[in-house]
Amino acid sequence: MTGGAELAAVLRGIVGDAHVLVDPDLRAPYETDWTRRFTGAARCVVRPAGTGEVAAVLRACAAAGVPVVPQGGNTGLVGGGVPAGGEVLLSLARLTALDPVDAVEAQVTAAAGVTLERLQEHARAAGFDFGVDLAARSAATVGGMVATNAGGIRVLRYGSMRAQLTGAEAVLADGTVVSHLTGLAKDNTGYDLTQLLAGSEGTLAVLTRVRLRLVPLLPARAVALVGVAGTDEALALLGAARRLETLAAAELFFAGGLELVRGYAKLQPPFREAFGAYVVLECAGQADPTDELLEALADCAAVGDATVASDAAGRSRLWAYREAHTEAVNAAGVPVKLDVCVPLRELAALVAALPSTVDKVAAGAQTVLWGHLNEGNLHVNVLGAQQQAEAVSDAVLRLVAEHRGSISSEHGVGRAKVPWLPLSRSAEEIAAMRRIKSALDPAGLLNPGVLL
Ligand code: MLT
Ligand code: ZN
Repeated sequence: MTGGAELAAVLRGIVGDAHVLVDPDLRAPYETDWTRRFTGAARCVVRPAGTGEVAAVLRACAAAGVPVVPQGGNTGLVGGGVPAGGEVLLSLARLTALDPVDAVEAQVTAAAGVTLERLQEHARAAGFDFGVDLAARSAATVGGMVATNAGGIRVLRYGSMRAQLTGAEAVLADGTVVSHLTGLAKDNTGYDLTQLLAGSEGTLAVLTRVRLRLVPLLPARAVALVGVAGTDEALALLGAARRLETLAAAELFFAGGLELVRGYAKLQPPFREAFGAYVVLECAGQADPTDELLEALADCAAVGDATVASDAAGRSRLWAYREAHTEAVNAAGVPVKLDVCVPLRELAALVAALPSTVDKVAAGAQTVLWGHLNEGNLHVNVLGAQQQAEAVSDAVLRLVAEHRGSISSEHGVGRAKVPWLPLSRSAEEIAAMRRIKSALDPAGLLNPGVLL
């Protein structure tokens, strides 16, 4: 193995002095995730500018036997993009090339470090849109989003990140560049390496460019914030809203989360009356969907109260009650953060059982729930339980498994959930994943300790 100083010198020769960070102050922003739950000291941070430099960096690290942690916008929530200690942190932030929109194919090729917000602006300027959206849009990068198969608020309509992915360019642990960016609609030529990388969490290869499907830009939108008695009523409303062809999002939060968000973002109560649960519905189309959304609400007995906005400012105002949850929780403390999903028929029972399940292992902790209603995807955030983080995770994830759910709906496994992977995947599946991992990264240098 090469010494630290020797490897840093090789890396400087590849990316230039200014882009190898060894000083602890310069490394610090890359070494801790933004929830402050995961942190570790990297050997150095290296910031290549293109695929060739990424390949050279990986070749140098492989020759030195030094593990590598790839990182995009550092918005991940399971510790998959921060070092455990001693790795080279490979930041993709300088890979920012964004090709012109291919209007005939309705696709675009973007380098890994392009932020979601920039991609959205680029697509919209060409009359298209991108099918994935999430609150961290200003910092989250497309490479990280593919690597984690990010979900977000539009999965209901367009699917997760893998559903947008038509091609990828990536670098294997030994520096081999694997590129398949044709984006062909039909391409039955063997193993789908592109899709294998979606959700691989940086353990199989480092994504450097991705080819992404675009969707039509829908200019007319209407958002409803609806107060309902509880989870069953929220599901009844979802059932009614599903009949709308224009339905684009269906999100859920509860009274406790609303209190926290209102305090943090200084928002007025949305209704005179308080409700047990709240649903955000968004409809989008070429023509104004407001009337059909209003009709659906009027016909649904589960609706306690509702407010609807069609203009951009009004829509953002209603979305803020939902989208500010992550930041409000983060401002209140370091949460134990879990991201689960269950079949919709199990959702109400899970929501009912969670607070007491948490209380048994972390008395007095505050459980805040919100999520993506359509997918039965609940973000379980527990405040005041840092000391009992493992016991809380264990209790919640076992409960989720009892309800036939997944221990990770959209955030991935990362470092956070490795011990619980067998709750969602069989021993045979995990063994097959390990075989794939050792075929592509035999020395185990890419993101060790993540996922497997
Ligand atoms: C969300 O939907 O709010 C995101 O997944 C972020 C989070 O869970 O904190
Ligand atoms: Zn989410």
